[in-house]
Amino acid sequence: MSARQIHLMETLLPQRRVPVPDTGLLDPRDLRPGGGEVWFEIGFGGGEHPVGQALRRPDVTLLASEVFQEGLAKCLGLIDDHGVSNLFVWDEDARGLAERLCPASLDRVFILFPDPWPKARHRKRRLVQPDFLDLLARIVRPGGQVRFATDVRDYADEALVHFVNHTGFKWTAQKAHNWRERPMDHIATRYERKNIGDIAPVWYDFERC
Ligand SMILES: C[S@@+](CC[C@H](N)C(=O)[O-])C[C@H]1O[C@@H](n2cnc3c(N)ncnc32)[C@H](O)[C@@H]1O
Repeated sequence: MSARQIHLMETLLPQRRVPVPDTGLLDPRDLRPGGGEVWFEIGFGGGEHPVGQALRRPDVTLLASEVFQEGLAKCLGLIDDHGVSNLFVWDEDARGLAERLCPASLDRVFILFPDPWPKARHRKRRLVQPDFLDLLARIVRPGGQVRFATDVRDYADEALVHFVNHTGFKWTAQKAHNWRERPMDHIATRYERKNIGDIAPVWYDFERC
């Protein structure tokens, strides 16, 4: 990490960390006056997507989690560069934050190019599992959306099966075009552009029902 990144980790992180209370649940709609939607990004890598969305949608409050310290430091650098005030970061496992959010308190969740864990013996480490979808279903409001993207074929297949089998989510695609083409509101990241998977990316949008 550069000296600036270390400084931002010490100074900016405490200001931008999601202020979860010591006891009880956090209602993220209380984080900023005036309401607005609340979006949650899980595993943001270098932060290009949440920072880009925060700049594009100043009316939205974003929560964004990343466990990789260098990624977090990069994101703090972008927050500082652009003076972003509607993005809060979580530097621990996203599932820990999800457990501490109020029911139905999120409008949108992004799971973009999650760690693929390609080896068969590691697949159980993949984020998208039935118990994780139970957790998401609790915190996403009815009508809220979850976007999942990957360029790894068997994760795409596996995640789709888990989502469509879950009674809390409905796949919104009407035709192949909907899941094959990058959504208009997406902000591409450096990781995504590397195309290290084995297929062209798929984009699955689900609605909480
Ligand atoms: C393959 S990278 C993709 C990053 C980013 N979404 C993108 O598209 O550029 C996946 C990221 O998710 C993070 N991650 C994995 N599991 C996580 C978890 N449970 N909570 C928060 N971050 C997680 C990893 O540290 C990694 O940086």
